[in-house]
Amino acid sequence: MKTGTPLVSRSGVELRYSGYDVLVIGGGIAGLTAALGAANRWHVGLITKGALEETTTFLAQGGIAAALGEYDSPDLHFKDTLEAGAGLCDEEAVRVLVEEGPARVRELEKLGAKFDRRGGKLILASEGAHSVPRVVHAGGDATGSVVASALAEVCLSGGRVELHEHEFVVDLLMDEGRCVGAVSLDAEGTLTVSLARAVVLASGGAGQVFAHTTNPLVATGDGQAMAYRAGAVLRDMEFMQFHPTALYAEENPTLLLTEALRGEGAYLLDGAGERFMVGAHPRAELAPRDVVVRHMKRVMERDGIGHVWLDARHLDCAFLRERFPTVYQGLLARGFDLCHEPIPVAPASHYFIGGVLTDGWGRTNIPGLFACGELASTGIHGANRLASNSLLEGLVFGERTVRELNRYLAVSDPAVRKVRLGLADEPRAGNDAALVAETRQELRNVMSDLCGIVRSRDGLEQAAQRLAELEAVLVPPALKVAELELFNLLTVARLMVQSAMVREESRGVHLREDFPERDDVAWRCHVLVQRADESGSPSITVQPLSGGAGR
Ligand code: SIN
Repeated sequence: MKTGTPLVSRSGVELRYSGYDVLVIGGGIAGLTAALGAANRWHVGLITKGALEETTTFLAQGGIAAALGEYDSPDLHFKDTLEAGAGLCDEEAVRVLVEEGPARVRELEKLGAKFDRRGGKLILASEGAHSVPRVVHAGGDATGSVVASALAEVCLSGGRVELHEHEFVVDLLMDEGRCVGAVSLDAEGTLTVSLARAVVLASGGAGQVFAHTTNPLVATGDGQAMAYRAGAVLRDMEFMQFHPTALYAEENPTLLLTEALRGEGAYLLDGAGERFMVGAHPRAELAPRDVVVRHMKRVMERDGIGHVWLDARHLDCAFLRERFPTVYQGLLARGFDLCHEPIPVAPASHYFIGGVLTDGWGRTNIPGLFACGELASTGIHGANRLASNSLLEGLVFGERTVRELNRYLAVSDPAVRKVRLGLADEPRAGNDAALVAETRQELRNVMSDLCGIVRSRDGLEQAAQRLAELEAVLVPPALKVAELELFNLLTVARLMVQSAMVREESRGVHLREDFPERDDVAWRCHVLVQRADESGSPSITVQPLSGGAGR
């Protein structure tokens, strides 16, 4: 069969066919890095559900953390990452991240990402929980778009990587327990069956599970949900990191006000105009993110307000405009003046620490299925990610996934025996569009209210009940992106709630008011979930951290 040959499925849906050595799903920094590296040896296709400019990477502001400074070292970066990670980092994986990171950043610069320099030297920014300035950035606070554009340009030059934008992956294709491709849906409703000898999942996070998020609309946890359906092990799904300073506004996504603003000296103020982080933590506004969020939450409750203030009025206005053009212009467009008024900010879901369990080479428990970037759980973030370690993660583990792909493809059996598409025999009518939109909004509210920054058994039980009720009124989805996304959101939300219920302690980004203390005796553990049976119900296990005492 030739690539592009149209076929018709039993339900009458038109199918197209493609074949690759490597199929990458996701067009952020990890997906682009993996695709670019793999394309040196293999025929590579890259599918992304939106445009490349719509990824979370593209929106990233702060930068990339790497030990490139005179007074820095991988050892120091290692120590800071572990400290922020609240006792749950995988030290071996962190070692890889900090040791290999500087070389990856230099390579990225050679590829064309122009990082900000002064007098020829990289400018390194401060961010929360870093003990030295360590964050390289580009275009001031436009790091993500600069980096993503540079990678995309090289990927696409000379047709190295076959790019398919606006292509929604419905499911992974499996053959006798091995992943052999994916089936995807384009904007016209045509399905494509992409067979591949290896699939790299790099489809990012799931911030859209919550009502207030910095993540783009596309961040609906599709990769986590499809990996779960395929039988992958997912880990620590209870850990969603909330960014302290997102604009307090009814917008989706909401504007991020990069942590680098606090790195340059901006303050957090309570309702009375006091700097509440001074005295709360030795690093004040630059405490680890989970610590800042906890204090914000306390202050907001005490003062009876839905936000605190980020104040940069004491900083030089020309500097602010030049260093933070995205934030400055973004605020101006919404009627706020960063130079002359404090800005209302509240925590927003920002980075999904939990995800598909991988080893240090992007391998999942499913042969042929690799994962990297935010979607993956490598263990580098522990229970609270150190700021600006995520773009670095995409670079380092995207590249390591390529090295593993080269080994795997050299020996793997290319023959595909039988693939089940898992499509319904008859086309489905699906759910009414208004119901789909309402349910999505309700799910986000339920998750923010009952499984958000602060959790409790009662709240989590209510959340589980509400999610079940929302699901109960839906019929199986038609082949429409909005419906398929909703079912993926429901899957991820359910796994998050169930995992959050299991972890009976407060650690990093997971705060239980009924178990307010970190419990290193019982809970230096990971929570693993895997689909148990066809009904989709999860089997949950608790696994002591290697080297940890366990429960
Ligand atoms: C930021 O710019 O504050 C975001 C950086 C990050 O999430 O690592």
